[in-house]
Amino acid sequence: MPERVFLASRNAKKVAEMQRILAEHVPGVLVVGLDDVPDYDEPVEDAPDFAGNALLKARAGWAATGLPTVADDSGLCVDALNSMPGVLSARWSGPPKDDDRNNRLLLDQLVDVPEERRGAHFECAVAFVAGERELVVTGQMKGRVIRECRGSGGFGYDVLFVPDDQAGTLTSAEMDSATKDAISHRGRALRALAPQIAPVLGA
Ligand code: IMP
Repeated sequence: MPERVFLASRNAKKVAEMQRILAEHVPGVLVVGLDDVPDYDEPVEDAPDFAGNALLKARAGWAATGLPTVADDSGLCVDALNSMPGVLSARWSGPPKDDDRNNRLLLDQLVDVPEERRGAHFECAVAFVAGERELVVTGQMKGRVIRECRGSGGFGYDVLFVPDDQAGTLTSAEMDSATKDAISHRGRALRALAPQIAPVLGA
């Protein structure tokens, strides 16, 4: 039986990304997602920060599945909005979650903010829980919020965000996924986590 790790997410792209990164450190590992385990009550993400939300999701996953569990939480922190939307990123313009409506609201809120104060960063916390062992790592992607939507890749606020890396011209929605993974908050956090949990997974 391969060593199984549970990623508490229904996002198939996140499961595949975690599988690629973890397999470099734990050969033969199999990452399974929420769709691969019996349903359980997922916790309300009501912690005040990304690390707290990632940890409560990972603890719930471990309790429900008994598998070493990884969970992430992420969002966009805008300097001119005192680091909001932050943990409220997914539903910034109210429920139900709607990326286009969120992006329009963000553009409106920043309409009077000049170029030099449009700095922002994506942040991601990734938590690992296996019984008593608990670990949280974070990753960031710095950049700025532009004034119009550009690009068709990615998701969420990618169409409005130009990372400082990659010459600082393309939005993260204009990059292919491998280029974004290499510089993204989530890619950075996962790559920091993998070598730390490898020994726990028997590698
Ligand atoms: P989640 O933690 O992956 O569920 O992301 C929460 C919310 O943060 C998403 O719904 C997006 O609004 C925003 N977000 C997180 N990561 C990204 C990203 O890489 N690109 C664009 N938006 C993101």
